[in-house]
Amino acid sequence: MPQTKRAKITAVGHFLPESRLTNHDLEQMVDTNDEWIRTRTGIEERRILKDKDKATAYMGIRAAEEALEQRGIDADEIDVIITGTVTPDYLFPASACLIQKAIGASNAYAFDLSAACSGFLFSLTTGANMIESGRAKKVLIIGADKMSSILDFTDRSTCILFGDGAGAVLLEASDDETGIVDYVHHTDGDTNNTLYQPAGGSLNPATIETVKEKKHYVRQDGRTVFKKATVGMADVSMEIMKRNDLSAEDIDWLVPHQANKRIIDATANRVGLPSKKVMLNIQKYGNTTSGTIPLCLYDWQDQLNKGDNLILASFGGGYTWGAIYLKWGIE
Ligand code: UT7
Repeated sequence: MPQTKRAKITAVGHFLPESRLTNHDLEQMVDTNDEWIRTRTGIEERRILKDKDKATAYMGIRAAEEALEQRGIDADEIDVIITGTVTPDYLFPASACLIQKAIGASNAYAFDLSAACSGFLFSLTTGANMIESGRAKKVLIIGADKMSSILDFTDRSTCILFGDGAGAVLLEASDDETGIVDYVHHTDGDTNNTLYQPAGGSLNPATIETVKEKKHYVRQDGRTVFKKATVGMADVSMEIMKRNDLSAEDIDWLVPHQANKRIIDATANRVGLPSKKVMLNIQKYGNTTSGTIPLCLYDWQDQLNKGDNLILASFGGGYTWGAIYLKWGIE
């Protein structure tokens, strides 16, 4: 039996809107303050896509184009495009289809994957399985969310948390031991609706009432989600390390979903990693949902060496959570 080839990341791209919304700006909008936001979340500012005619697909297109340019390949070489998002331009067609057309990926099929803050991780492993099976040679994985489109900027408990942004990675078969080694994913259906957007789906289609009652915005029971996220992200990181016989010394980088610095610190402590090995950019971008992990990879790519051991970890709405163990494959 030929050895199955691992899927490895061979390029990274990103897009961040230029417009910054700082904690001080938010002080003018809701009853909050910079000190509270920084100490409770670690966030100092976030990016907002202000153009009315641009949304998630636009950010995904820009991130995808950058990844393709970095790799030096044409879009028509792409076999599949998967976009992790909870803020697609439309309920359908998928934003991935809009991205496919715009970048000229004429040979690719494309679809969105909805797993909230785990959208990028779940998309990455879906794409990796396609590469490992040999059915696809080049898969583009995009994590993109225009969270500002579903935020109530009069609700201080949610509007301070999120930002807009996108990241993209290219997956190809690896010729060596680098690439995605293992993953663990979990789901525990949140029937209590502790983190959700009440209306706009088939249960509560848009009506004048749903708009008046602000049901098209994110709602979150922050304290409940915080507790679950703290336990979930730490547990799943330990789980993947244990089953791959990895100790803290073996890990070069923890790449955590950026929802709250306190959740990230708790995960790093549990795993036993010093902060210098933990990617953290929440202060600049807030929680960009599917964008956080590829944006970390983009920001840190110059510091990554081929063969570095990375643990990617996330927890989000659904509930969905998971971890990926990969050996960095770019020189
Ligand atoms: O990525 C998807 C997964 N999501 C998450 O992982 C988010 C998880 N949750 C969290 O990160 C945190 O729960 C929050 C940052 C959302 C909230 O922090 P917290 O420490 O859990 O605060 P809290 O909700 O317990 O609220 C504490 C107090 C409350 O006042 P009282 O009732 O103690 O008087 C809130 O009303 O802080 C108040 N508060 C605020 N004060 C100033 C809530 N939001 C704000 C605000 N500014 N923006």
